[in-house]
Amino acid sequence: MDSALPTTSATAAQHASPTGGSTPGSEWWRSAVIYQIYPRSFADANGDGLGDLPGITSRLGALQELGVDAIWLSPFMTSPQKDAGYDVADYCDVDPIFGTLADFDAMTAAAHAADIRVIVDLVPNHSSSAHRWFQEALAAGPGSAERARYMFRDGKGEHGEIAPNNWESVFGGPAWTRVTEADGTPGQWYLHIFDSSQPDFDWTNPWVREQFRDILRFWLDRGVDGFRVDVAHGMIKADGLPDYTPPAEGGSMGGASVDASLEAAGTGPDSWPETAPYWGQDGVHEIYRDWHELLATYDGDRVLCAEAWVDPLDKMALWVRPDEMQQAFNFPYLETPWNAAALKTVVSESLRAFAQVGAPSTWVLSNHDVVRHASRLALTEENPQGYGVGPNTPGKPDRALGLQRARAATALMLSLPGGAYLYQGEELGLPEVIDLPDDARQDPTWFRTNHERYGRDGCRVPIPWAAGHPAYGFNTTGASWLPQPDDWNDYSRDAQAGIPGSTLELYRTLLRLRREHTLGLGSIAWIEGAPDTILALTNGAVTVVANTGADDIAVPSSLADSAVLVASGPFDGRTIHGDTTVWFTTPSTLPVG
Ligand code: GLC
Repeated sequence: MDSALPTTSATAAQHASPTGGSTPGSEWWRSAVIYQIYPRSFADANGDGLGDLPGITSRLGALQELGVDAIWLSPFMTSPQKDAGYDVADYCDVDPIFGTLADFDAMTAAAHAADIRVIVDLVPNHSSSAHRWFQEALAAGPGSAERARYMFRDGKGEHGEIAPNNWESVFGGPAWTRVTEADGTPGQWYLHIFDSSQPDFDWTNPWVREQFRDILRFWLDRGVDGFRVDVAHGMIKADGLPDYTPPAEGGSMGGASVDASLEAAGTGPDSWPETAPYWGQDGVHEIYRDWHELLATYDGDRVLCAEAWVDPLDKMALWVRPDEMQQAFNFPYLETPWNAAALKTVVSESLRAFAQVGAPSTWVLSNHDVVRHASRLALTEENPQGYGVGPNTPGKPDRALGLQRARAATALMLSLPGGAYLYQGEELGLPEVIDLPDDARQDPTWFRTNHERYGRDGCRVPIPWAAGHPAYGFNTTGASWLPQPDDWNDYSRDAQAGIPGSTLELYRTLLRLRREHTLGLGSIAWIEGAPDTILALTNGAVTVVANTGADDIAVPSSLADSAVLVASGPFDGRTIHGDTTVWFTTPSTLPVG
């Protein structure tokens, strides 16, 4: 591209009307970079092979150096760990494998002292079957108040031997399990949208609502800055629990596809894709309005972030209306391929859809449920969310290409206004671990699909801190709940710290520049006229050119006099290589919308 960058188009402003809080319109979460800690795999202080809270406390310095604003911790509450802690048996205690409540308090205090906010995971759609509430429900029998806490139903057929409907579990297999009643006879069925060890609550029951208000207060009183709300699109099921068969090509968590989402962009509800009777029901919103009010009684701009896999973005925006949650994960962005046109569309749509309800957009590329983006962006075949990548997956990613694209994709993401979520290890450029031995895999998906889907273990392997050390410094014993690959020395944090061009230093630089130029509170203008493979935008003082194609392009003449702030890959000042993103200073001659 030797063209000038002639014009700019539609500005998608992010500044929203204030919705309360001490710093209206610029509350911390509107522009925060939030780092997801997966406690099992972050740092292991007691050496048992499973990460823990004291491990996190001991490593907060690294996150401060990285430059994040907040951490979100996946669940560390009491749990039999059938779904890695997303099966909670006591919402108000820490599982001994992770430590104690005192460890949590110490970690929170240390994080706050380091100017890092703390968000915890709340799992309200279901509990563990080991939870006292569910055990009491089993014991109390049909028709009891205890059973009414969960979704118990009589079966169909002469003897109730047929499940109440045809719903399938997200992890594979039926979503219903039949219980044996106290007298030993086959009894009612209970609904579990996930594993059979994760019975769904009945959120139409006021008792359930009251328990969760108490749980919110428990953690708010301990000083947490907010909650990431698990399965925030699933808590209410359609009346009558009608049969439903999901589309074959959909990911496991709902949401149709990015394409469907963008096709329905800007249209009214009548044009939105069909919704499963257990996802995205209108009734969920009154729950979040209630929680919004509860959080507002606390100081400090506490935040709720929705995990809601719903399409299109206009529908997702309903979760972040001014009286509901503050943020929702932008999964359509995560699912968008590394393609300039598709990215431009999804970014514009995100900014438009969220701005219309006064919320910031969020951006996310990786988490504990998806293939790490350093691998995903180089997959050559369709890979629906939740399926994972293993030895027999077709279209396995090229590692170097994946990392190059991941770095470029992150450099684009961190230039955008709004909140951004990082997943532990992506700042090290970690790839998905593809060749985990079959007998090491632990994701219920792997078992419930008879090993047809690998599931999510490949993105959950304990992260490397120190090259050449046992477990790469994850602990001092070398134990690791999922085996770490042999070739992770170069990915280790200490092998990258201070090394120009390393992925870790790239992330640090991007986060520093993002803060210095307040990009998170900015607004963008597209620079038109670039070739199809190029995405070019300005956000205030920073102009970003992302080359999503394979071919080199020349730096546009209009940027010839601009300083280079950072490049995601090797850059000589003249040629932007394929799969590379470069940040320049915005030239004064460039018209900015
Ligand atoms: C969410 C979590 C996922 C978990 C599921 C069931 O999607 O992110 O890890 O398996 O909910 O709780």
